[in-house]
Amino acid sequence: MAQSTLTITPLDPVGAQVSGFAGSDFSPEEKQALNQAWLDYGVLLFRGIDSAEQHLALSRCFGELEIHPIKELRDEDNPFFFPLGGPPMVAQVYDEQDIRVGRIPWHRDTAFRPEICKGSMLRVLEARTSQGETLLGDTAAAYDALPDEVKQRIETLEYIAEVSHGSPDYLGPANWWKTARMARDDEYPEGVEPPRDIQWPDNSGLRPVIYPAVLRHPESGRACLFLSPMNIRHFLGMSEQESEELVTYLVRHMVEPRFVYRHHWSDNDAVLWDNRRFIHAANGYPATESRLAQRTTLADKMHAGRPLETVAAE
Ligand SMILES: [Fe+2]
Repeated sequence: MAQSTLTITPLDPVGAQVSGFAGSDFSPEEKQALNQAWLDYGVLLFRGIDSAEQHLALSRCFGELEIHPIKELRDEDNPFFFPLGGPPMVAQVYDEQDIRVGRIPWHRDTAFRPEICKGSMLRVLEARTSQGETLLGDTAAAYDALPDEVKQRIETLEYIAEVSHGSPDYLGPANWWKTARMARDDEYPEGVEPPRDIQWPDNSGLRPVIYPAVLRHPESGRACLFLSPMNIRHFLGMSEQESEELVTYLVRHMVEPRFVYRHHWSDNDAVLWDNRRFIHAANGYPATESRLAQRTTLADKMHAGRPLETVAAE
């Protein structure tokens, strides 16, 4: 049997880095070791992924890939890639002093549909900046650390999630700023052309969904604090104020530094996250920079919630 040379090194405080591989061929033993590491750690970092082929081959070790449902978001050369970054980027002004592009509040991917994707692997081709971290929060570890009385309180709780809370002036519980607005044309740095004719995605066809506050991971069985902070509207069965207080408490808890790996990108880094277990966020970078990245998405979806309409009919 071929000997695996993979080395798994824990990251601080969660996740792990995988090294000791080359090329795009992975043996069954290596695939098994990779999947075990992913199940154990939930986030895996790979460095030196220097070709699209290697990114695809590595991604496929964890399952089939999906083509993004929105045609405009697919890479022209390979529909399995979802390009991120690069001009034109919209700049936003945070707390009237910090102008950034690419900032994204805490969320799970597609956490506004009954089914959520299993995971994604983001590869940065050209980092071009020392800023622009990606933050990844372990919601299984966050759940484990909750006081018992809170675990009991949220065990059967459900909440309404929707897509619209990702708007540019977002001020909900998943942020870490007090004010946010689009930059005016005259606020763009010299030499950076403000983007024109921006086509915002049409989300009008997406109906809200009902999610459980606690989700059992389908492979590990671990309880995950299943809030997608950017998508929360409110908990069912409680007053608006009570819901807001609980959301604020839980979101603050789940993004505490002890549960969050912060990744500083270098060229050809790739990070794979388990979307059922981890939430993630991006803290953005100056508008004078244009990072290039590509994402693959694992096709094996998990049924996590149900459309809001079915609740009204019950
Ligand atoms: Fe995301």
